[in-house]
Amino acid sequence: MEKLVITGPTPLKGEVTINGAKNAAVAILPATLLINGTCTINNLPNISDVKISCEILEKLGAKITWNTPNEITIDTTNISTTKAPLDLTSKFRASYYIIGAMLGRMGEIEVGMPGGCKLGARPIDQHIKGFELLGAEVTVEKGTIYAKANKLKGNNIYMDIVSVGATINVMLASVLAEGTTIIDNAAKEPHIVDVANFLNTMGADIRGAGTDVIKINGVKSLHGDATYSVVPDQIEAGTFMLAAVATKGDLIIKNCITKHLDSITAKILEVGGNVEDNGDSIRVWCKKRPTKANIKTLPYPGFPTDLQPQMGVVLSLADGTSIINESIWESRFQYTEELNKMGAKITAQGKTAFFEGVPKLYGAPVYSSDLRAGAALIIAGIAANGVTEVYNLEHIDRGYENIEERFRKIGAKIERIKE
Ligand code: UD1
Repeated sequence: MEKLVITGPTPLKGEVTINGAKNAAVAILPATLLINGTCTINNLPNISDVKISCEILEKLGAKITWNTPNEITIDTTNISTTKAPLDLTSKFRASYYIIGAMLGRMGEIEVGMPGGCKLGARPIDQHIKGFELLGAEVTVEKGTIYAKANKLKGNNIYMDIVSVGATINVMLASVLAEGTTIIDNAAKEPHIVDVANFLNTMGADIRGAGTDVIKINGVKSLHGDATYSVVPDQIEAGTFMLAAVATKGDLIIKNCITKHLDSITAKILEVGGNVEDNGDSIRVWCKKRPTKANIKTLPYPGFPTDLQPQMGVVLSLADGTSIINESIWESRFQYTEELNKMGAKITAQGKTAFFEGVPKLYGAPVYSSDLRAGAALIIAGIAANGVTEVYNLEHIDRGYENIEERFRKIGAKIERIKE
């Protein structure tokens, strides 16, 4: 078992470079199945979700060459099976993108129910509704999803819920379908735009990604033979921004798209932090104790649920009582129990949590329940007095590359220890 041992408090100072977005990468990799040929993808984060995505593609018949730790060339000319490996697909959530991509490529797929962070019920009814409207038959039996289509045909699909995964999955299935698909009430996250940009670079005809209506004109094939660079990770950038505020530090966060960070910038300014937008980098600093603020998580461009736990650390240290309303995932307050072990005063009731700010947190052994909870506990450990031990690192390694090394470079006293 591994743990992170953090000795605080340390104000984080210096420069950190943001990697490619996990949530874009885990969709772009299966999207390569729609290409009958080769393409190169760079700015890939070197994280376990990306490595497992690559393993799944290889099991389906793709050939992958790692040019560098952050760049692959992938050849999807020979896809030899329509059965995705159940043990791998059940390891993370985004394995559901195999369904849309393989329906498009092969007209058939058998895949295990997706796994991933336990954030509450994670239904995929909107994905299935979209596939069925495109002409697929979908059955779910004993934890396995079977989807089959003789010929996918474009259709008008209204999403009952704004869903990142369903929007991307239906986009994947409709790229090679006959005719035009319109996704209404689509999600607008930056990684949706990135997946559309990737597919368009490879020859697809997708318009409107980033708005709530996406139009996909089906094309006969995707040509590949191109290189694509994954968009910088909005959530990783936000994690470091909030780490700067929680630790009363001063960070320059490089390689980010500052427009994607507007909702986080607004909240940092509201709690008394400072933000300087320098185009492709952002400086965040905070000299005094943050003040209270209320947060409601919402689909993009609202405040992202994936930064709610990191913001929770800031608010647990703020002057005054703050309220967070979590509108996306009902079980996303598990980290608050761990912060309370460190001296925070948080009461979570259903989708709402009350943060009675304390002047200091104190080191303690804590357990990360999911990826972003893990990031929050690291930030708390750096801000806290004394020694914090963070356990369950497999969650954190799913989404952050070299996390302890990158925090160490900006001043954190943090070690990974094997027990
Ligand atoms: C993606 C992100 C995840 C992020 C989430 C919300 C990836 C790999 N993961 O997850 O990090 O927290 O967006 O920004 O990109 N829903 C349904 N039916 C469906 C689909 C979703 O009811 O068919 C509900 C969910 O229960 C949830 C809400 O819609 O309450 C949003 O979920 P969705 O946007 O689909 O999240 P994911 O794509 O799974």
